[in-house]
Amino acid sequence: AVTRTFSIIKPDATRRNLTGTVTKMLEEAGLRVVASKRIQMSREQAEGFYAVHKERPFFGELVSFMISGPVVVQVLEGEDAVKRNRDVMGATNPADAAEGTIRKTCAESIEANSVHGSDSDENAAIEIAFFFKPEEIVG
Ligand code: CMP
Repeated sequence: AVTRTFSIIKPDATRRNLTGTVTKMLEEAGLRVVASKRIQMSREQAEGFYAVHKERPFFGELVSFMISGPVVVQVLEGEDAVKRNRDVMGATNPADAAEGTIRKTCAESIEANSVHGSDSDENAAIEIAFFFKPEEIVG
C-alpha cells in the first residue's frame, strides 16, 4: 500500500550541503517528498521528538547534535514508505551500513548519521504530526 513516513536530514548533512544528494537518493528509492521544510530545532523540540530515548546514555549528545545546525524535516510517500526509507537509509551505524545506502555514502558516525527515518507506521504518524500541519502536506 502507498503509505507515508517521516524523515530528517540531520545537521551533519545540511552542514556539508548534502540536502540535494540525500533527497535524490530518497527519490531514486521510489519515495516522493510531499512536505519539506528547513528548520532550526529548539532544545525543547529535540527533547520532545526524541523523548523515547530519554533514558539512553547518548540522549544529551543526541539532542545537542540535533540542534547544532539546521535540519530538513520531510514527509515521504511511497509503496511501503517506512520500509523503503529504512532500506535506503541503511544501518544506524554507517560502519554497518550496506553499499549504496545514504548512511554508507554520507554519514560520518553513529551520531552524525545524516538521516532519521520512522521505524513504524504508528511512529510515522506521530512524528509527522510533531512537525507538520495536515495542510502543509500535499500529496
Ligand atoms: P535516529 O534514527 O535519529 O534515532 C535515534 C538516534 O540516536 C539514532 O538515529 C542515532 O543517530 C543516535 N544514536 C544511536 N545510538 C547511538 C550511540 N551509541 N551514540 C550516539 N548516538 C546514537
